[in-house]
Amino acid sequence: MTTTDSTGQTGQSGSPDSAGPTNWASIEAIADAVRVCTKCRLHSDRINAVPGDGSPVASILIIGEGPGFNEDQRGLPFVGRSGKLLDELLATVPLSRDDVFITNVVKCRPPDNRDPLPDEVSACRPYLERQMELLDPKVIVTLGRHSLLRFYPEGRISKDHGKILRWGDRILFPLYHPAAGLRNPAVKRELERDVLRLPEALRESLMTPGQRATPIGQANTTSAPGSETPTSVDAEISGTEEVDKKRFETVIENELVEEKGERQLGLL
Ligand code: URA
Ligand code: SF4
Repeated sequence: MTTTDSTGQTGQSGSPDSAGPTNWASIEAIADAVRVCTKCRLHSDRINAVPGDGSPVASILIIGEGPGFNEDQRGLPFVGRSGKLLDELLATVPLSRDDVFITNVVKCRPPDNRDPLPDEVSACRPYLERQMELLDPKVIVTLGRHSLLRFYPEGRISKDHGKILRWGDRILFPLYHPAAGLRNPAVKRELERDVLRLPEALRESLMTPGQRATPIGQANTTSAPGSETPTSVDAEISGTEEVDKKRFETVIENELVEEKGERQLGLL
């Protein structure tokens, strides 16, 4: 069975090169498959695979990079220090873990917390694809660079964090990774500021095309699955001074962060 046959939502799920068994019937069935998966080298050192956790009917899907030490120990996403910061950020909106579903681009811990390699991301891809199909989230929140690039290969976290982007008929809302926030107070302030726009992202995702400030861009609705370039909703709803001010402030903050050389530290 193909993705398209089972759900008719291939257009939402990403690149056309994504292959693999995609007929898991439930989030729990995906989790069962992940826990015994040996499709890439990351299976060999894991204590626990980390399929994801949260509400199976969540409108918001949060996607990190990959499990770290604590997640590997417990089989749950974001249960270490990054997770604590993520919980604190969500609480300001206010949301809890029960309101969202949290998972990662790769479901097993990369050794020494290194970046996941392209073949590992690709081997793990069908699980995230099917999670997206079954959850059918309105808003996808990416945490950090790797998660953003999974959806928006031309994206730059230093430029795109906190933007409300349209991706097909979902909203893509990129945030810095909480781990970067823990290492750097300026990045943490950006995270705290950006997350406050999550309700706005959700509101935007619920609008029908007729209710939006301007219609979805043609390129975004007609492009082939996976070749979609997210379009900025911010540009479309810039009618109020408040939104304009927010955008301006974010640009200024980015410049400050970059001036401090954070890029060289690998945070951006
Ligand atoms: N960092 C991630 O990207 N994911 C986790 O689950 C934990 C830390
Ligand atoms: Fe399987 Fe993904 Fe774990 Fe690799 S990272 S072994 S593809 S579940």
